[in-house]
Amino acid sequence: MQIKGFSKLSKEEKIDWLLQTYFNNDSSARQVLLQYWNKNIALQELHDGFIENTISNFYLPYAIAPNFKINDKIYAVPMAIEESSVVAAASKSAKFWLDKGGFKAEVIDTVKPGHIHFIYEGQTTDLIRFFRQNREKILQSVDDLQANMLKRGGGIKDVNLIDKTTAITGYYQIEFLFDTADAMGANFINSVLEEAAETLQRLAGEQLPGKLQILMSILSNYTPDCLVRASVSCPVKMLKTDELTGEDYARKFVKAVKVAEVEPYRAVTHNKGIMNGVDAVVIATGNDFRAVEASVHAYAGKNGRYTSLSHAELKDGIFRFWIEMPLGVGTVGGITAIHPLVRFSLQLLQNPTAKELMKIIASVGLAQNFAAVNSLITSGIQKGHMKMHLNNLLAFLKATPEEQQKARQYFADKKVSFKALKVFLGRE
Ligand code: MEV
Repeated sequence: MQIKGFSKLSKEEKIDWLLQTYFNNDSSARQVLLQYWNKNIALQELHDGFIENTISNFYLPYAIAPNFKINDKIYAVPMAIEESSVVAAASKSAKFWLDKGGFKAEVIDTVKPGHIHFIYEGQTTDLIRFFRQNREKILQSVDDLQANMLKRGGGIKDVNLIDKTTAITGYYQIEFLFDTADAMGANFINSVLEEAAETLQRLAGEQLPGKLQILMSILSNYTPDCLVRASVSCPVKMLKTDELTGEDYARKFVKAVKVAEVEPYRAVTHNKGIMNGVDAVVIATGNDFRAVEASVHAYAGKNGRYTSLSHAELKDGIFRFWIEMPLGVGTVGGITAIHPLVRFSLQLLQNPTAKELMKIIASVGLAQNFAAVNSLITSGIQKGHMKMHLNNLLAFLKATPEEQQKARQYFADKKVSFKALKVFLGRE
């Protein structure tokens, strides 16, 4: 059903319209929405204001993975995620590496690009000369916009004209490279680009013989030079399990990672497991997980074939496992100062700089990957997964607390399945 002016309706009117139109005025549907409204009116209004047309809140569990030793500092990491077993797996991994030196992480660089995409119909040589003569003027026109960022240690690092005419006739870019200090920086970058584009347009009108048309000015979420590396390592003997010697375990692990390096079908799932941990921390710290996802997967395919973000080796009796990933995250700006849980997350992480947060997130991604590959090459993934999923199944079947307790005991050493649980609870 089409509606005009939906955004102008009050929250209650919006809900009324939805119920009439899609729920046959069923009051229980209203209750579903209302039960998630926060009783604290100011807090609810804060959340209402984050986006448009808000009618309720959508909860994600917010959990903690403790014992993350990263560069010799121990963190309790906040994670917001709905998938069972992710936090348990991260915690298990963190604990495993705690007494083996923990995670070592380093930021390789923090460059974020943005582009003015435009068409110039005249000669390339004229455009190159024009850019050389006006580069400083274009930069000066955004002086005010970057004054604050400069004070915080960031700002524009470089500006270049890029000829893309072999791809599209007349297509050029002015590429800006930014350091956005502790901010994710999207608003800063886009404001600078739009201002610079106006200057470019004006100067081109005054000086260039051909027509210059600005297509768009926008940051790129592909940030291959905003890069962080995290690693763990230990003597192989420390990897011994009940079934495998440390050496056999390490060999199997390294092979499993090799499969993800060469086989895109496996690489996508392997990286998805990494992103389970990464996204959960990105969300809990108020960062943009869509931007991070887009960048990470483009990075994983940067050489023309999608591959693993993590790598492993076994050398001279030492097992080493590491990850390299782009992470354009921030610890100031956006909702970091206004979302109470985000503020809590950042305080819990001891108010990290953006670089520190990059290191924490990459370490959690690596931990998550370690846990997944470990399960896959030993017990299989379903054992742990279904144990956690048992809670969801019990909730779905509306099991009483007593039934829940019995079911958990019964399935402690058995394979969980929906059918088996229904039989056990006599709900067949
Ligand atoms: C499930 O969410 C993630 C895994 O499939 C990752 C992996 O296979 O490496 C377990």
